Amino acid sequence: MNFKTQLEDYQATQSMSKFPYSFEEWEAMAKKVLSSPNYDYVAAGAGSEDTMRENVDAFKRWRIQPRMFRDVEQRDTTTTILGTQLESPIMMAPVGVQKILHERGDLASAKAAGELGVPFVCSTVSAYSLEEIAAEVGEDTLKWFQLYWSTDEQITSSLLKRAEAAGYSAIVVTLDTPMVGWRERDLNHRWLPFLEGIGIANYISDPVFKSRMSVDPGSDLQAAGEEFRKVFGNTKLSWRDLEFVREQTSLPIILKGILHPHDAELAIHYGVDGVIVSNHGGRQVNGAISAIDALPEIAEVVQGQIPVLMDSGIRRGDDVLKALALGAEAVLVGRPYLYGLAVGGREGVKQILRNLKGDFELTMALSGVKQISEITPALIRKTTN
Ligand SMILES: Cc1cc2nc3c(=O)[nH]c(=O)nc-3n(C[C@H](O)[C@H](O)[C@H](O)COP(=O)(O)O)c2cc1C
Repeated sequence: MNFKTQLEDYQATQSMSKFPYSFEEWEAMAKKVLSSPNYDYVAAGAGSEDTMRENVDAFKRWRIQPRMFRDVEQRDTTTTILGTQLESPIMMAPVGVQKILHERGDLASAKAAGELGVPFVCSTVSAYSLEEIAAEVGEDTLKWFQLYWSTDEQITSSLLKRAEAAGYSAIVVTLDTPMVGWRERDLNHRWLPFLEGIGIANYISDPVFKSRMSVDPGSDLQAAGEEFRKVFGNTKLSWRDLEFVREQTSLPIILKGILHPHDAELAIHYGVDGVIVSNHGGRQVNGAISAIDALPEIAEVVQGQIPVLMDSGIRRGDDVLKALALGAEAVLVGRPYLYGLAVGGREGVKQILRNLKGDFELTMALSGVKQISEITPALIRKTTN
């Protein structure tokens, strides 16, 4: 493949685009088109939002030391995760309730993923069912299913079996959200999407969930919402419970929300297939360490035994390069593509992803790197301010 031509084509298309380039402009445009509660639901972090800001600020303390004179004419951004080759180490993080951003919500994002071949992680609290979303991603693009573990074991089991049947190839178990964090903006609005029945599509389409109700949940969203609140989130879980997920699925299991190296060791001990270093975009524990600062210690204990992925704070190509240099094999993005969705639907999501991929490839080349395996800790250093 001629990467130079590919990049030139890309730049030519960009010059005709009506969309902006910078994350900050996308965010400002999203703020204009969304209602205040909807915008705040996405933009908010927990508490004083200190960790949410730190996710972005911490990246600035890591600096690239580019290498020169290294023939970057032919570049290759491909990488392999759990046996699947990806065109670029950039994935779409699981995000629920996307209907608050756009009528077609997750379906539009999933379609964009499929059209660009960017891996998509479907959330348990998606606004459309996991089967409908899988169909939009299509067969040729990697798709994983993210699990929020219900207090009702049979519902959890049913979701896992449906995900496998729908063609998802891994289960991402999110550990950091046994309950929703203290989000002051949402508390001020006294509103959550779930209260309006948004984000419960996987429940109202689930045979076990339906069997728990005396009415059809699809025709009584209020009753369905109440039932959902009873079963969402499970505060009793501990490491031994992973066995239960193993028994329900033959798919690889990836744990999302790891921030402590001891938890990474436990993940390996319990035989999981990968971890995602993440603080949920700063939405759960305010005061928590930024994901990028947690990454090196975790990569150190994992020692390449299982894939380490990372999210929380990725905004531009240099962030991707830094995360890979600190030990991530791939990164996931959340808010950037959500703002793309709010502003431009499927086309907006595609534009955001194209920008990120293009920026990453350029930053890689300008840093003297031709392929992902050349991105090592030797390429960056930490500064004090
Ligand atoms: C509005 C919103 C909803 C989210 N929903 C989920 C979810 O359903 N499941 C999950 O595991 N993570 C969820 N996340 C967290 C993302 O997967 C990801 O960890 C985070 O957005 C990454 O940070 P970033 O937004 O700075 O890129 C959500 C994040 C946002 C902003």
